[in-house]
Amino acid sequence: MHHGPGRPMGPRIPLTPQQREALSGPDFVLPQASDTFELGRRLAAVLRAGDLLVLTGPLGAGKTALVQGIGAGLGVGGTVVSPTFVIARVHRGPLPLVHVDAYRLRSMAEVDDLDLDVDAADAVTAVEWGAGLVEQLSDAHLEIAIDRAEVGEERYVRLFPHGGDWAERVASLR
Ligand SMILES: Nc1ncnc2c1ncn2[C@@H]1O[C@H](COP(=O)(O)OP(=O)(O)O)[C@@H](O)[C@H]1O
Ligand SMILES: [Mg+2]
Repeated sequence: MHHGPGRPMGPRIPLTPQQREALSGPDFVLPQASDTFELGRRLAAVLRAGDLLVLTGPLGAGKTALVQGIGAGLGVGGTVVSPTFVIARVHRGPLPLVHVDAYRLRSMAEVDDLDLDVDAADAVTAVEWGAGLVEQLSDAHLEIAIDRAEVGEERYVRLFPHGGDWAERVASLR
């Protein structure tokens, strides 16, 4: 049997998403706030009715800033602000945007009970602080993980596709 250079020596062991993440750099490096906004605008171009976006990252990471860019890209009305005091805000437009702050929600039922005047199937739903809570709302979602640099203002974004055709859509953004 021939073992030439560059030939695989055996079966490849697939990496877990965590291992892959540790090996690779972030998908996007964002030096300033306008870059976060711009990434949101670009992301909006691949969004469709029924999409669920789960934004993770510490306070001040830029989750709301990214949703502001998404709102601009979707062309929705109203200013996208932190929804902290209202839990959820609906922005009307060709493709409506539901912006949720799940910080004080403790169960999926509470999310379902919000009784928004738009059907999630007809809108894009972007949730801050919803990790581990809202994934079950949809059979597919995009996790958007934002992190701050330890020193300086730079932000790092990783996109984790979960189900549906998110992997293809994410690949088209890179
Ligand atoms: N890439 C970036 N570089 C520098 N500042 C940023 C960047 N992205 C966002 N910001 C700023 O960080 C601050 C907090 O952002 P915000 O979206 O409110 O965070 P979060 O919703 O995650 O708590 C805002 O002033 C925002 O303009
Ligand atoms: Mg926020």
